[in-house]
Amino acid sequence: MSEPDIRVYPDPSELAREAARHFSELAREHIARGGRFTVALSGGSTPRRMLELLASEPYAGQIHWPSVYFFWGDERAVPPDHPESNYRMARESLLDKVPVPGKNIFRMQGEAEDLNLAAEEYSDEVGKFFKSAAPELPRFDLVLLGMGADGHTASLFPDTAALRAGEKIAVANRVEKLNADRLTLTPATINNARNVTFLVAGEDKAPALKSVLEGPRDPETYPSQLIHPEEGRLLWLADSGAASLLSLS
Ligand code: 6PG
Repeated sequence: MSEPDIRVYPDPSELAREAARHFSELAREHIARGGRFTVALSGGSTPRRMLELLASEPYAGQIHWPSVYFFWGDERAVPPDHPESNYRMARESLLDKVPVPGKNIFRMQGEAEDLNLAAEEYSDEVGKFFKSAAPELPRFDLVLLGMGADGHTASLFPDTAALRAGEKIAVANRVEKLNADRLTLTPATINNARNVTFLVAGEDKAPALKSVLEGPRDPETYPSQLIHPEEGRLLWLADSGAASLLSLS
């Protein structure tokens, strides 16, 4: 496996600015080349500042938003207007502020009673959009990911069933330690992307980031180690706090 591409920035604001620039650059490149940009957003709190920057100049004016198609890497088992909803965070920070048509937004139905059915329906919807029929997987232009202090990413938590989801597109995942159910893209789908970019900020992430990038291979314990795109580019964008334990050159 090639050396990971890790870029470290002084603080979360600088990290967010670089992430917004990276997003804008990829979006313009893919729209110019193929007429569209397909991106799966990450959840949690780290991406918020990047999304807010994308909703403001200069980025908002650089991107042809009707050509951008939004998906999610994961979602909590909550309604779309719930404070913990990843969709709500993206809608408030970006989607309500730029001219993205509703048909371009593919939300995971976290509110569903039957999350397994919701995962199947999302998989069908994504598969149809990408015109990919099983076992072929969809190929996102960009999958944005965060990483938890336990080394999880998306809703791929340590020692959970979704780590072994095989060639499915998205699955429901029971996370006992959170006493929560989640929807998540599978490692196989994420690894089929053209670009996978992690955004990691905060000292609290430093031990996990060191274990993920420099520790022994142990993906059941550190699921972020499952992410290595077969034919795509993996990029880690971190602030100095999260990268503080890395033996970076
Ligand atoms: C989620 C995310 C999750 C997140 C990490 C980091 O739904 O929580 O998708 O994988 O990216 O937990 O979260 P923070 O950015 O809040 O630290």
